[in-house]
Parts: sequence; C-alpha cells; structure tokens
Amino acid sequence: MFSRILTKSCSQHSATLVRTFCASAKRDSMKVAVLGASGGIGQPLALLLKNNPLISHLSLFDIVHTPGVAADLSHICTPAQVSGHMGTDELEACLTGSHVVVIPAGVPRKPGMTRDDLFNTNASIVRDLVDACAKYCPQSMICIISNPVNSTVPIAAEVLKQRGVYDQKRVFGVTTLDVVRANTFIAQAKDLDVAHVNVPVIGGHSGETIVPLISQASPQVSFPRDERAKMTERIQNAGTEVVEAKAGAGSATLSMAYAGAKFTGSLLDALNGREDVVECTFVRSDETECKYFATPIRLGKNGVNQNLGMGHMTDFEVSLLEKAIPELNKNIAKGEEWIKANPAQ
Ligand code: NAD
Ligand code: LMR
Repeated sequence: MFSRILTKSCSQHSATLVRTFCASAKRDSMKVAVLGASGGIGQPLALLLKNNPLISHLSLFDIVHTPGVAADLSHICTPAQVSGHMGTDELEACLTGSHVVVIPAGVPRKPGMTRDDLFNTNASIVRDLVDACAKYCPQSMICIISNPVNSTVPIAAEVLKQRGVYDQKRVFGVTTLDVVRANTFIAQAKDLDVAHVNVPVIGGHSGETIVPLISQASPQVSFPRDERAKMTERIQNAGTEVVEAKAGAGSATLSMAYAGAKFTGSLLDALNGREDVVECTFVRSDETECKYFATPIRLGKNGVNQNLGMGHMTDFEVSLLEKAIPELNKNIAKGEEWIKANPAQ
C-alpha cells in the first residue's frame, strides 16, 4: 500500500511520505497488554487503546471472558491486532514482547468501603500479575490502576526486586484520574475550556493523600478560601462520589478508562521519542519523606525521565501535604510489609 502511495506522489511529497513511513515503521512494534481486560475499566480501556495508532498489538488478559472481548474488539477497523488470553497458563503468550502493561485487575469498592479495604483481595492479584511481568516481559513499563494504588505500587516494586529486574523508572501508579477530575471541576467552576486546563495533583491516590495544587493550575485561577477548600475536598472525594452514585455496582470505570488511555498514550508517545510529555504519576520518589509519591513527571524513552517536583505551594497546599504524608507512609509500609510476609512464589 505504501509503494502505491509513493508512485502517485511527486518527489518532494515523497520525502515527506518517507519520513512519515519511517516514523510509522518505528512505531509499528508497540505491544500493549491489559491485565483485567474484561472488567469495568478493562473493556472501555481496551476499546480506547484499540483506537491508538501507536499500538500494533493489543494483548488482553483476564480470568474470564477475554476471548469474547478480544473477538469483539478485533472487528474494529484500526491497525492494532487484538489477542485474547484467559487463565494463568496464557499469561506467557499475553505478556511476551509487551512494551507496556496496564493493570486494572482486581475488585472495586462498594459504598462504605475505603480503597484500603480492597487490600486483602487486590494485593495478591497485583503480586502475581507483576511476577508474571518479571518473568515474561521484564523490560516493560508497568502501569498499575488496581487499588489501593498507594500500596499496590510498592508491592509491584518489591516483586520486581525479588526477581532482580526492578527499574524504578518503569513502574507507575496511574493517578491520572485525579488530574482529569481536577481539570474538569475547575474548568466548570471557572467557565474555562477544559481542553486547555491543567491542574497538577500530587501525593497518592486516596482521600487526603490526593493533593491538588490549584495554585499551579494553568491557566491561573483563584477561589475564595471556602470555595478553594470545597473544590479540594471534591477532588479528593470524587472516587467516593462515583461509588455512591453507582450504589453497589462498582466504582469509576469509564472516566478511569479515559484516564488510563490518556496515561498509556502519553507513555507511548514518550517511548516513541516525544520529549515534552509530562504526566502526574505515583512513582519511586525522593521529593518528600514518602518513598513513593506522585508529582509531574517528564516521560522519556526509558520511562521516568525527570521528576519535575512539587513546585511552589501555598500554605494551604503545604497543610494538605502535611496531612497526606503520614497516611501515605502508612499505606506504603503496609504494602511493603505484606509482600515481605507473602513473597511471590
Ligand atoms: P471489575 O470488577 O469490573 O473488573 C476487574 C477485572 O479484573 C475483572 O474482569 C476480573 O475478572 C479481573 N481479575 C480479577 N482477578 C484477576 C487476575 N488474577 N488476573 C487477571 N484479571 C483478574 O473492577 P473495575 O471497576 O474494573 O476496577 C478494577 C480496579 O481498578 C479496582 O481495584 C478499582 O478500585 C481500581 N480503580 C483504580 C482507579 C485509579 O484511579 N487508579 C480508578 C478506578 C478504579
Ligand atoms: C477512583 O478514584 O475513582 C478509584 O480509585 C476508585 C475508587 O474506589 O474510588
């Protein structure tokens, strides 16, 4: 098909096409795996990823229904080839050769639960899936959505260390939904075009560990003190807002799929050589006394390229940070202690 296009083109145009072809030839090898692909997040996330032209192979794993999800998606006329894998015996085929692995496997909250209440079920799910990544795609970028993110990311890191393949630049807790929400709520409150709003959200991904930096919003916005407090609380409790509205049917799935596809897309852009890609994400960090912490991160060909840090914070934001740190440290320690007592087999 490419040669047909070339023969129709003038030589000047051909040069452009050759460059385009080279760029796409380079891009053509990206394999992305989604683990937990049949779930509330997994299915819409896989749908959005199927539409990403940087992905040549979308590999879907779950313990149920993956053949059906894969068959359905495979009929969509976009370039990514789709494969479905079900059951642990198929993890090797799913993961081998993956450049990026996205993990939304695990149970969601019901009303009245905290994210930490999911720990007992999701800790071992994440441990075992990351262990499979260590075995079958040790160089991959691992993006963890499964809650409690504040604990599942440290668990993932310890499994990779246990297997001798840990690279702190390649493990990400996906906190993009907090930024997506902050952008949406602030654009609504200030009647701004949401496409041009960016609010960094730092810290962790649960209640008070979520620290929106409204003072660093772009474009700049200002709120009276009580409205700023209300806006901050809404961003911190937005997950619970969805859990309560779904009344027992789970937590955020569609907005999370959007956020997960946004983060994965940014990572793929960076892996392909784009140099201006920045996302807030929960990574190994020296920015605070917490071993893992979300800040704006410049992504690059090897994952984390540069931690852009917290920037200048107002007294109000510093007070939020002071509340976040003890809880976040507790969540991180819980994950690390659990994995010490329950190592991958
Ligand atoms: P869901 O129950 O709808 O889907 C989870 C899927 O995981 C199911 O298809 C299930 O079969 C699969 N699964 C379970 N054990 C597995 C295993 N060992 N291997 C592979 N797949 C397995 O739940 P959901 O609504 O998609 O939420 C998934 C997780 O994402 C929850 O822990 C939720 O709290 C979390 N979440 C995180 C964020 C975030 O911002 N990071 C946002 C929303 C939800
Ligand atoms: C969210 O922020 O929506 C997720 O972490 C899911 C939840 O339990 O709130």
